[in-house]
Amino acid sequence: MSFRTTATDYVEDVSPGSGALPPRARHPASDARTLSLNGSWRFRLSPTADAQDDSFAAAGHDTGDWAEITVPGHWVLQGHGSPIYTNHLYPFPVDPPRVPTENPTGDHLRHFDLPADWPAEGGSVLRFDGVESCARVWLNGTDIGEFKGSRLPHEFAVGHLLKPAGNVLAVRVHQWSAGSYLEDQDQWWLPGIFRDVTLLHRPPGSVLDHFVLASYDHVEGLGTLRVDSDVDGRVVVPGLDIDVATGEPVTVPVRPWTAETPRLYDGTLVTEGERVPLRIGFRTVALDDGLIKVNGRAILFKGVNRHEWHPERGRALDPETMREDVLLMKRHNINAVRTSHYPPHPAFLDLCDEYGLWVIDECDLETHGFTEQAWRDNPVDDERWTPALLDRAARMVERDKNHPSVVVWSLGNEAGTGRGLTAMADWIRGRDGSRLIHYEGDPDCRDTDIYARMYAGHAEVERIGRGLDGGTHKRRGLPFILCEYAHAMGNGPGGIADYQRLFESYDRIQGGFVWEWIDHGIRDERYGFAYGGDFGEELHDGNFVCDGLLFPDRTPSPGLVEYKKVIEPVRIDGDGPAGTVRVTNGYDFADLSGLAFEWSFEVDGVSVESGALSVPALGPGDSADVKLPAPSADGRGAETRWTVRAVLAEGTAWGPRGHVVAWTQLPVSEHPLPRVAQTDGPVLGLRDITLGPAAFDARTGALRTIGGIDVTGLRLDVWRAPTDNDNGAHWQPDARHGPLWRGLGLHRMRHRLDAVELGDDALTVRTRVAPAGREAGLRTVYRWTSDGTRLRLTVSVAPEGAWTLPLPRLGIRLGLTGPADRAVWFGGGPGEAYPDTGSASMLGRWESSVEDLQTPYVRPQENGARADVRRAEIGGLRVEGEPAFWFTARRWTTEQLDAADHLTDLVPGDTVWINLDHGQQGIGSQSCGPGALPQYRLHAGPAEFSFVFSEIHD
Ligand code: GAL
Repeated sequence: MSFRTTATDYVEDVSPGSGALPPRARHPASDARTLSLNGSWRFRLSPTADAQDDSFAAAGHDTGDWAEITVPGHWVLQGHGSPIYTNHLYPFPVDPPRVPTENPTGDHLRHFDLPADWPAEGGSVLRFDGVESCARVWLNGTDIGEFKGSRLPHEFAVGHLLKPAGNVLAVRVHQWSAGSYLEDQDQWWLPGIFRDVTLLHRPPGSVLDHFVLASYDHVEGLGTLRVDSDVDGRVVVPGLDIDVATGEPVTVPVRPWTAETPRLYDGTLVTEGERVPLRIGFRTVALDDGLIKVNGRAILFKGVNRHEWHPERGRALDPETMREDVLLMKRHNINAVRTSHYPPHPAFLDLCDEYGLWVIDECDLETHGFTEQAWRDNPVDDERWTPALLDRAARMVERDKNHPSVVVWSLGNEAGTGRGLTAMADWIRGRDGSRLIHYEGDPDCRDTDIYARMYAGHAEVERIGRGLDGGTHKRRGLPFILCEYAHAMGNGPGGIADYQRLFESYDRIQGGFVWEWIDHGIRDERYGFAYGGDFGEELHDGNFVCDGLLFPDRTPSPGLVEYKKVIEPVRIDGDGPAGTVRVTNGYDFADLSGLAFEWSFEVDGVSVESGALSVPALGPGDSADVKLPAPSADGRGAETRWTVRAVLAEGTAWGPRGHVVAWTQLPVSEHPLPRVAQTDGPVLGLRDITLGPAAFDARTGALRTIGGIDVTGLRLDVWRAPTDNDNGAHWQPDARHGPLWRGLGLHRMRHRLDAVELGDDALTVRTRVAPAGREAGLRTVYRWTSDGTRLRLTVSVAPEGAWTLPLPRLGIRLGLTGPADRAVWFGGGPGEAYPDTGSASMLGRWESSVEDLQTPYVRPQENGARADVRRAEIGGLRVEGEPAFWFTARRWTTEQLDAADHLTDLVPGDTVWINLDHGQQGIGSQSCGPGALPQYRLHAGPAEFSFVFSEIHD
């Protein structure tokens, strides 16, 4: 006899569910009553879907031993079970639509009374904004339905079941369901009721669904508004003198909505039973002449991919966090968001409308794990799943259709190709012809209006820009975007300035979206921030989940600072010695009237004079030449430059007055090289050799002291703790330098002493630096000279043997054992910079604690180098470079940094380790994209570089 319970069959059913109301527009609060059911709920976790019967849904169930849980929230982040991180592998056997018997199931219970004045007439709707991954719902013991589609809203009519007091809402949530096969996004698997739960009163004659159609005719300057509503009513927009019936178009002069000029008109949809506020943005999106145009102009996306993330609450985001994301984007010159890979909390789109961001709204659909089986059985090509796909498309489009910020619908991400996608696209086009359709996974663009790629290298992007990439006839006529590029994992991404140059050179390339906005690290006592594998997952993808421009706590990483500079909307060039500046407006719509321009004149990195620069309110694309004043300061004998900044002239909704939008630096006179006369000679003592202020070990020639400063371990250094981009991803076809460097042994170089030579005016130490087991080596000579107070070191490096790899770095390291808490330098700052990440590195005089010189990448790796340093001071020691150098200081060695898996593994020691680098290998973005471009690679070749050391006497 076989027996299997049937009560949970819905979990593995491919259908989207049953019992829910048809999807409709989500609008901000109307004047109808609502009751939030967020807050503390009772919670019980079971190991399987059928471990418990449904008696808990009835009133009076004994919940004495149940836990408390916060809704919205994920139970695995509230002490029940653990999160799992996989990139594309399903964390369960792939046998669609079946899921494992071990299926963590959370029963949630909420008791509530209706407010005393909750109207008796009319109906009520219970709304879930997001539940992962499958829920069954009971109200007062009655089963009202079940649903899948985690990041989509589901509403149920419940008026007939409500009581004034003592209502029992029971929600059973299963972690795994057939729906999980459609939700294989690269992120944590986080079950729970993670978005709001709300009871909405629906007065008689209230609005059901409504569709705001607000287009803009850029030739005539006219907007046309039509609000379709299932329930007739009137549309009132006082600011435009509009008062028309629903369904009736009206055309009036308006100011259009764009991401740069997000003009919204407040209106109201008035029906017999309800007043629904409208926020109307007039704009027309079109595919015109092979380009994405808004209001008649081609736009350039300067975008990011945004997953919803909070380091403690996961994807349960509060309004402040959403606003913070939007403000951070606006302040960093970002103008577009792809809501990878699901519709976000609806409040996020309200913010995009209000502050101005172009949005690609992406459906909650990814089946990436099927790539492991050559896409066999992929649900998007199996018509049994088509109703679920159409349900997802409809829930996204219906919910979000009234947002002017949404200019493109995306069918989903990495779901292969198939008839289901075509069905979705056809349905979307039929419902909303006013936007374009995106999907990256089909290179033939059968269903889309945009050719999109992810992680294509620079050369390929250029070919696409030139139209030399081939492809189907349809594709060749489409605009191109990089829906993902510049993989921001760990240190990097490198090469974004090179991409931006391509974007700005070819009309067909309409920009890109950096992958991704924020690291998904989970705050954790042991690790600082946890990543994949930290919860004992049997399958996981490690720190691939930490690949954002923000650290998990939303601190901007250097990558975001770099991106802000690269995409700045105003270009400032010029000629420093001539004192002329050319300003170009790079906005697509806005003029420059919102910006003020400032200049400062700097001598050796210190501003000695500053003032305002008058720049005309240039229109988009226009340029003007302006003259800088004659500087009154005489910078002779010093290094001088202009810094010109474009700042917000007045505070805006997203930034304070004075906020820097764009800047440039124009050199006037060059950095004079430090000169040290060779007046002293080395003197051999009993144990020491002395030379000017320095003492060396007589046997090894190792530097011991400079004046009163103890120095240890000064030697050539070529190793850096490989970055995620150095390591690359295992599927990368090209050379991945991190593993190759380690294979060669660059992390275990041996230093052979060949000679210590005392000359008349120099101490010369000859060495050969090489790894065991290899013939390749670096013949290295240290030549020390002094003028009595200063000490000059010239390092000469000559590679020997076969060097087929670039070097990670080339320079010296030394340890300071005395107190050295702060560094001051004249060079690039304030943040780190590497050869292909240095756009935002501003020359100046900077100061920082050693602690703050570290960039806290969630997985420790090379970080914190300051570029173009002319002079650095730390621990009483001054170092000047010829040429300028990269400066790094940390309280652990490179080897300790390399060995660390988490930030908490890094324990500060007493010695401050300093790297003074002549060269650094570029960063690239090979953790999921191309490596460092050839011009940023550090080839092993003969090199010579010098440093001048002196003790600072205050
Ligand atoms: C893409 C994918 C993203 C993410 C990224 C790598 O292929 O669409 O979801 O996995 O790669 O971080």
